[in-house]
Amino acid sequence: MENKFAFAKELVYKAGAYILQGMDDSIEVEEKTSPTDLVTQMDKNVQHFLVSEILKNYPKDSIFAEEGQFKQDITVGSVWVIDPIDGTANFVAQAYDFAVMLAYYEDGIGQFALIYDVMRDEMYHGGGRFEVMCNDKVLKPFQDRPLKRFLIASNAGMLEKNDWGVADLTKKCLGARAYGSAAISFSRILQGRLLTYITYLYPWDYAAASILGEKLGYLTLTLDGAKPDYKTRQGVMMVPKEKLAELQEYIYRRGEN
Ligand code: IPD
Ligand code: CA
Ligand code: CA
Repeated sequence: MENKFAFAKELVYKAGAYILQGMDDSIEVEEKTSPTDLVTQMDKNVQHFLVSEILKNYPKDSIFAEEGQFKQDITVGSVWVIDPIDGTANFVAQAYDFAVMLAYYEDGIGQFALIYDVMRDEMYHGGGRFEVMCNDKVLKPFQDRPLKRFLIASNAGMLEKNDWGVADLTKKCLGARAYGSAAISFSRILQGRLLTYITYLYPWDYAAASILGEKLGYLTLTLDGAKPDYKTRQGVMMVPKEKLAELQEYIYRRGEN
């Protein structure tokens, strides 16, 4: 597993270097399901690079990736979960606050994961039997404090509508932030800078963070408190295990959700 982990880390660094190199070129942007759901040539090229390198080195492994047809069930065999650029809207509009994410599962068990915040050159890595680190710094497990001393992250729509009680929870905390990238939001939790991140996500948005967070005392759950299905888009939260009951006083299904 050490060799596979080292390969993955080098690969994600290479993907980051590829993105940096191409950022000055004109970026072709397409809309997917809505005017805010974007994909660029860069997302497709980065994914193609990651998939082809993985399959060249590990031809028996399978892929579950955001773009295109690679949708292997993570519970069957050796599966790499890829989000080539998380925060594509940020990438297009700000050239900042986006990340490459890679997670590796064997029969549904997370073995290691990587989140690479390209512009800050911060690589979050580890999980499974590996320590969770940001670059060469070991990250501390969750450290408790009162809700009023924590910020949370969500998305603007959920906050506005108090969807699942996110606005109610925000009032009990110091405030809410919306970073426009699941990877950036999760990385702030891993660093102890945010209590939780609550939003609607696909598996490739939360797979890497769920592996990394588990080692630091966090659970990745649906908003009902169940295990996510790792197949469809669901309401998801990453929460410190020891704060779950307190958060669930606010985050629960209302009639309208
Ligand atoms: C999106 C971002 C965004 C989140 C969306 C994701 P993408 O990923 O993480 O912050 O709110 O749900 O789909 O499309 O930029 O990879
Ligand atoms: Ca993406
Ligand atoms: Ca994403």
